[in-house]
Amino acid sequence: MAKRSLKAYEDVLLRPEGLAGAVDFEEIFGRRGPVHIEIGSGKGTFLLAQAGHAPDVNFLGIERANKYYRYAVDRIGRWGLANVRIIRADAARFLSEHVGDSAVDWFHVYFPDPWPKKRHHKRRFVSGSNMAQMVRCLKTGGVIQIVTDHTDYFEEIQKAIEAQGKRLDTIAFTPAAGSGDGELTGTNYERKYIKNKRDIYSIAVRKG
Ligand SMILES: C[S@@+](CC[C@H](N)C(=O)[O-])C[C@H]1O[C@@H](n2cnc3c(N)ncnc32)[C@H](O)[C@@H]1O
Repeated sequence: MAKRSLKAYEDVLLRPEGLAGAVDFEEIFGRRGPVHIEIGSGKGTFLLAQAGHAPDVNFLGIERANKYYRYAVDRIGRWGLANVRIIRADAARFLSEHVGDSAVDWFHVYFPDPWPKKRHHKRRFVSGSNMAQMVRCLKTGGVIQIVTDHTDYFEEIQKAIEAQGKRLDTIAFTPAAGSGDGELTGTNYERKYIKNKRDIYSIAVRKG
């Protein structure tokens, strides 16, 4: 069967070229509204379900890999979801250069690359400094939800949260709209890991 070509829907993609300083989310989405950022949105499965479920929320997916970014843009565009934008960027850099203080309501970080080899741990997204970045970008009352299948990465994530001290309170995890029975996020990786019977760890915190 011939491979379907992916369409670069201009209304969905947010081009990193030309961005200078903090982005104006109201301008990007053409309206006011809560801003949810998904880091490492992969094929866009979470965004697709969640944006359909919460049309009043503005969703931005940040995806570094061109292959997944293109796939997700095509998918969101075909579904005609007007409340989603996707940018191809390194999330750490995008947050530090283009997201202002107290601009974001939620961060969703589902199955971030675990980089299992010790010498690669420094490539992991959820580090002390990126946690501090997310907290800076969050509004008071804003939430960070993280899910991983890696025990030692989860320990590192918990340490990064603890390092924020009283700025973050642990709260109950809110399952995603697209999650089925026994799922938290309904993403492709979660489904794969559940099938492989891997343990899954999750945490949700609120900025006080
Ligand atoms: C293991 S996959 C998980 C994808 C999806 N969240 C899921 O649960 O199915 C991790 C994704 O994060 C992306 N990624 C890794 N590091 C990133 C970074 N620094 N900035 C943006 N995306 C990143 C990868 O390209 C990949 O698509």
